[in-house]
Formats: sequence, structure tokens, C-alpha cells
Amino acid sequence: MAEIRLPKNSVVKEGKNYIINKKDEKTAIRTVQIYRYNPEKNENPTYDTFEIDTSACGPMVLDALLHIKNNVDTSLTFRRSCREGICGSCAMNVDGTNTLACTKPICDIKGTIYINPLPHMPVIKDLVPDLTNAYKQYTSVKPWLESTKEPSMRNDEVRERLQTPEERAKLDGLWECILCFSCSTSCPSYWWNQDSYLGPATLLQSYRFVADSRDDSKEERLEGLDDAFKLYRCHTIMNCTKTCPKGLNPAKAIGALKQEIITQKN
Ligand code: SF4
Ligand code: FES
Repeated sequence: MAEIRLPKNSVVKEGKNYIINKKDEKTAIRTVQIYRYNPEKNENPTYDTFEIDTSACGPMVLDALLHIKNNVDTSLTFRRSCREGICGSCAMNVDGTNTLACTKPICDIKGTIYINPLPHMPVIKDLVPDLTNAYKQYTSVKPWLESTKEPSMRNDEVRERLQTPEERAKLDGLWECILCFSCSTSCPSYWWNQDSYLGPATLLQSYRFVADSRDDSKEERLEGLDDAFKLYRCHTIMNCTKTCPKGLNPAKAIGALKQEIITQKN
């Protein structure tokens, strides 16, 4: 019988403990356990445990991370930019769910706050996943408008490519995607086949252009997706929709792509 084990260097060991010694009635202590990995050290990853005074930092998980980085361990590494749920860069696994650290309130989490990088991705350092393959897949679906028609003119000026309100409404629930990859990295099909399955984030982005009335490459886009792995490795597990921090429905977009392919073939 096959014996499946994790490679030795992937086992996460217990790391350092950072305790607050001076506590009074004003301190609101929370314990945060964070995955740490430094490729330069040639050591196994660890879970470091930090006690933080949440009365001294902002209300979100990202605030707790910034507090730790600024006051306890400057080597703690994570991505963030907008702190408003817009750039997608602070996506990580908090309390067992992929989400955005900047929009996840600390008070929503009971007990120890467990923070890990997005699952099943190579880790560059600490909470920073390597998204090279994910972005390569995103690029492969040509996430830009391809139109052969000239834009409308007004007073000799080039204007927009116009849509009816109904055509524009078809893009709602798609354009809001911030490419955080929380959905793709919550999907078991993507975990095991990310070399060949495009994953929910990229497929939602692909449907965003398939559904766009101004795009003239719908046929080629659908032909490119009609593949046992690229699209049909989705088994409608729905983790993607459950986890999306923007409340989008990648599973619905994937279903719509499958429906479009059937329609095109008939
Ligand atoms: S669909 Fe949601 S979870 Fe997936 S990449 Fe877009 S915003 Fe992130
Ligand atoms: S920092 Fe931009 S989405 Fe969180």
C-alpha cells in the first residue's frame, strides 16, 4: 500500500513565544500564532506565538500584523497595500479561512488567532505565497477586451464602446474581483492540479470577458477553455464561493462558462 508522508522539511515546528510581561487592567491581550518560514535559514517552518495588546493596535487582523512587525519582530513578512479590501495583496488564511487580513476584524475570532499563508502554494517567506503560476494562468486567458469594432465618435472625439444597461449589468459580480486568489487556494481541485486546472479566480476573470458584449473573441476564448483540466477539473465543490472575501460567486461564473460552451457547440 502506498504510504504518503510530508517531506521532512515541510513539517511545521514550534517556534518562539513572545509574551507580554507587563499587564494591567487596561491591556486587552490576544494570542496570535503565525506561520514563519525563512528560505535563507534552511530550517523547517515554525509557528511563532505572539501576545499582543489589542488596545494598542487597530481593529483588523492586518493591524495586529503591523503591530507585531513594528513593535515585536521586524522580520515578519507579509504583503499589504491598500488596507481597504481593494488590492487583494493581504490575502491569507486566518482562523482556518482564506480572507483579506485588512477587512477581517480581530473581534470576530474567538481564542487564539491562527494565521497561515494561502494554502497549497509555494511560500516565498512567512505569509507571502508565490503567485507566479497563478498570474501565468491569469495571463493565459487574455484578461483584456478584444474588439474589432471602432469605438463611437462624438464631435470628432473617440468615445467609449457603448453598452446597453442590460449588457453592462451582466458584468456585475465579475468586475469586482480583486484577484486575491483566496478562492483558487481554497479549492481542492486546484490544490492537486494547479499545473493544469486554471482555478476559480482565473475562470471568473475569463468569464468577465466572455460575458462582455463589447468583446469579439468569445468563440476563441471558449475554445481555449474547452479542456478536461483547464475548466472541467471544477467539480462544483463551492469552497471558492464560500470563501470569497468580496462576496462573489466564482462557481456560478464557472457554471456559466460550461453553459456557454454547450450553447456554442449546439
Ligand atoms: S473571486 Fe473573490 S476570492 Fe476569488 S480572486 Fe476574486 S475577489 Fe478573490
Ligand atoms: S491590503 Fe489591499 S486588500 Fe488588504
